[in-house]
Amino acid sequence: MKTPIYSQLLKHKLLDYSPFHTPGHKNNFFPKNLFELDFTELPDTDALYEAEGIILETEKNLAKLFSAKRSIISSGGCTLAIQTMLRLASQRGKKILFARNIHRSAVNACALLGIIPKWILPKSENGLFTGRISPQNVEKEFLNDNEISALYVTSPDYYGELTDIKALSEICRKYNKLLLVDNAHGSHLAFLKENQHPVHLGADMSACSLHKTMPVLTGGAVLNIGNSKFAENAKNAMSLFGSTSPSYPIMASIDICCDYMLNGNGISDYRALEERVANIKESAKNHRIIQPEGSCDTTRICINTNGIENQIEFFHSYNIEPEFFDGQNAVFICTPFNTEKDFQRLETAISNIKTIPPIQKNIFFELPEIKLSPREAILSETEIISVENSLGKISAESACPCPPGIPVIMPGEVINKNTVSQLLEYKFKYITVVK
Ligand SMILES: Cc1ncc(COP(=O)(O)O)c(C=O)c1O
Repeated sequence: MKTPIYSQLLKHKLLDYSPFHTPGHKNNFFPKNLFELDFTELPDTDALYEAEGIILETEKNLAKLFSAKRSIISSGGCTLAIQTMLRLASQRGKKILFARNIHRSAVNACALLGIIPKWILPKSENGLFTGRISPQNVEKEFLNDNEISALYVTSPDYYGELTDIKALSEICRKYNKLLLVDNAHGSHLAFLKENQHPVHLGADMSACSLHKTMPVLTGGAVLNIGNSKFAENAKNAMSLFGSTSPSYPIMASIDICCDYMLNGNGISDYRALEERVANIKESAKNHRIIQPEGSCDTTRICINTNGIENQIEFFHSYNIEPEFFDGQNAVFICTPFNTEKDFQRLETAISNIKTIPPIQKNIFFELPEIKLSPREAILSETEIISVENSLGKISAESACPCPPGIPVIMPGEVINKNTVSQLLEYKFKYITVVK
């Protein structure tokens, strides 16, 4: 059989690794017939961008679930929800203040929409994780530049660190700025003991990658709108970027997830998950493993694994597949669809990690000089060159060393000595630059 993708997935399944990665359903949730329901927009199946029947009904259920004024389904991932959110917000003004730890989907959306980003740096205490931006610094930026129309933050970050959205929303309200949150990793925050969902805490809009932490097929996401002024145009804004053939199995999976949360055991399952994860984090702490501090997602496990030589080999030897390694840390996405066997494997692996002091770094750096907008840089003629030869060139991409997960260079910025040395230190070999 010559089916490279299908055959490899079958092989991967046989490995029987405990899945601590996306998607949140862990292949352990849906009715089997979901894959026999790949229909399209028909007279009786509604239409995503002109929803007035079953899709609108599910979107109303989502709005109820997330306490949003309006919720818009995406079957093109959180990327599409982010594009939509930025399109709606940029109609108010093209200059937006971004916490610099942004995902490339937002950088690309800036290029597509002609957004002019201003950056604010998260402060990482030890360089091991991303850290958070401070509300005081946001306020300073608002006072210094009244052209800024919105603040955009990513919370939780990959490591599970939460930004103080409530404090930021109060500042945004005071200065009449929009608050936009990339909540790709935090859809489930609405269902925890303490509701930490950005819309609940005052965000105007929040893009949520349902498929990452909830039982939804890959690609299923939602734009939750807290500010009703953006409700009317949201579908139109999404249709600029989205496919005209949305996936019905993905949309149906969102519908099934919604029912599980509203009418099934969803809430109690997520609360039980919090308890289970708390036990694992506690035993990691007792084992002196460093983890992110401060306010964090109570379902996400992130541990410093500096003492492990080959992280992939180590975790595979316990039949575990983590979400992410960055050389110093390992990240595990836990959902109610992980089994007790999964958690026991993880506990055993953690208890066998050799703990050695991590390499702490002072990651503060000066923001590079800006020569072009992201749009000008990304859409100009570009070439790929070695990092060693890139000094003085204008970058046409963002390059993001992890940890801490904050890009050292963004499209349109001039590569300086500091950029080159940081990229080389993190083993970046090539970079796309403006020709
Ligand atoms: C912080 C963040 N934002 C946005 C995205 C894009 O989400 P999606 O893959 O659902 O398009 C990701 C994906 O990993 C992400 O980590």
